[in-house]
Amino acid sequence: MNRGYPDRHLIVIFGATGDLAHRKLIPALYELERHSQAKGRATIMGVARAGISDQEYRQQVIDAMKAAGETGPEVTDWAHRAIFFQTLGDQGSAAYQALRARIEELEQSVGSPGNRMFYLALPLPAFPPTVEALGAAGLNKSPGWTRIVVEKPFGRDLDSAKSLNALLHRFYSEDDVFRLDHYLGKETVQNLIAFRFGNALWEPIWNRDRIKAVEITAAEELGVESRGAFYEQAGAVRDIIQNHLLQVLGLVAMDAPAGIDGSSVSNEKLKVLKSIAPIREQDFVLGQYAAGEANGKSILGYRQETGVKPDSRTETFAAVRLAINSWRWEGVPFYLRTGKRMAKKTTKIVVTFHCPPAAVFNPYIVCGNESNRLTITLQPNEGFNLAFQVKIPGEGMRLHTQEMRFRYADEFGKLPEAYQTLLLDVMRGDHTLFVRNDEVEAAWQVCEPLINGKSEVYVYPAGSWGPSRTDAIAEGGQHSWVNQ
Ligand SMILES: NC(=O)c1ccc[n+]([C@@H]2O[C@H](COP(=O)([O-])OP(=O)(O)OC[C@H]3O[C@@H](n4cnc5c(N)ncnc54)[C@H](OP(=O)(O)O)[C@@H]3O)[C@@H](O)[C@H]2O)c1
Repeated sequence: MNRGYPDRHLIVIFGATGDLAHRKLIPALYELERHSQAKGRATIMGVARAGISDQEYRQQVIDAMKAAGETGPEVTDWAHRAIFFQTLGDQGSAAYQALRARIEELEQSVGSPGNRMFYLALPLPAFPPTVEALGAAGLNKSPGWTRIVVEKPFGRDLDSAKSLNALLHRFYSEDDVFRLDHYLGKETVQNLIAFRFGNALWEPIWNRDRIKAVEITAAEELGVESRGAFYEQAGAVRDIIQNHLLQVLGLVAMDAPAGIDGSSVSNEKLKVLKSIAPIREQDFVLGQYAAGEANGKSILGYRQETGVKPDSRTETFAAVRLAINSWRWEGVPFYLRTGKRMAKKTTKIVVTFHCPPAAVFNPYIVCGNESNRLTITLQPNEGFNLAFQVKIPGEGMRLHTQEMRFRYADEFGKLPEAYQTLLLDVMRGDHTLFVRNDEVEAAWQVCEPLINGKSEVYVYPAGSWGPSRTDAIAEGGQHSWVNQ
């Protein structure tokens, strides 16, 4: 990982008036300005089609910071010193030439040496024309470095991801492209690397000999809220499984990388993705929430949400059993599950170990799923629990499952936001927490059977753990989902 001070640079945010920019990017950039090695090194230019002045955009930034809980002269000073705005209007070539002229003028006035980060916080259909227009305007090169950040989703399927990769490579080298999956910036996800390879304890048992099953769940209590129209184009597989969960799976299942750098980590994640056996119809379940109840309140079904078609087949839930054909993992089922309107908000990895080989305690215990289990909670209450057996004091040999528990908040307090980490890494040119072109294509390849539109979408009540059929795929691997 590159941990040096970033060079002085300009960040151009496309989609600067959108939800992502307001809620995540602006607060993260402010935090970096205050508390990181990036202090005083970034000038920010917002870009969108809307006609907005510098002053109006600065007000948007101040409002966004207020919504994030930060107000006061420091915020106002930063907005007036470091934030600018350029309108793209019809996005024609004249608009891009004007953008280029404004960038050069701004760099001169603030003394920035021509290092540029283009951040595409845009809807997916706007990615290709924007990349094309940047290239045509010569904004793929600069006197310093030029880096382009592409938000997820990266394509809609394998073909569109390949086309987007090819288009990016027409103008930028792979070293200049940062495919962003914000899960990789979460401290708890980064900690998977430290946990697995910074401790000698785990590696000897992190394989088919000792591990019975691995489960990765990303469950949300919320539904699609105001984003029904967006979600109709996405669905649970494209929104969560293809990117976040397969990336987490890569870090859980990979071999030790040669080093903690972009290409070594990507090489190992890619090996995992390429070793996943083709998914069969009996290996997965898709679902869509119907009206239900949670915390005593009745909840609308997905098809009743604003922006959703009344006969929509978009899945709001997906669960899949994966087999990884490798020496390390042959025979170990990996279960991925995600859903909206689930019984509980949680993102966690559950590693269930085999029972002791000789059942010396029978008939006092039945070794079910609970003898040894490691639960890594990615959010909320970040940390991990390790379950093991202890003797219950008193007469006879009776066993009880006890947990050792570590919580990040107890030890380290508030964790940095993922976007802070990732933006700083782009400033430094560090790819370790980003997704390489071949990884993103391999992940789409894995998901193809789930997104071909041919599978049944089963209804589940809002506030539950998904369609009842989900249990069948787990029991096929003799496992029960951990619903806590
Ligand atoms: N919001 C999140 O929490 C989140 C999280 C992860 C990933 N993402 C991804 O980040 C991207 C942006 O999401 P968002 O939630 O910020 O979207 P949004 O709220 O709809 O904002 C979109 C932004 O892009 C601009 N825009 C819209 N259509 C455009 C077009 N056809 N061409 C050029 N510019 C266009 C809009 O301004 P103008 O209309 O004025 O151009 C606006 O600034 C999406 O790809 C999304 O999947 C978002």
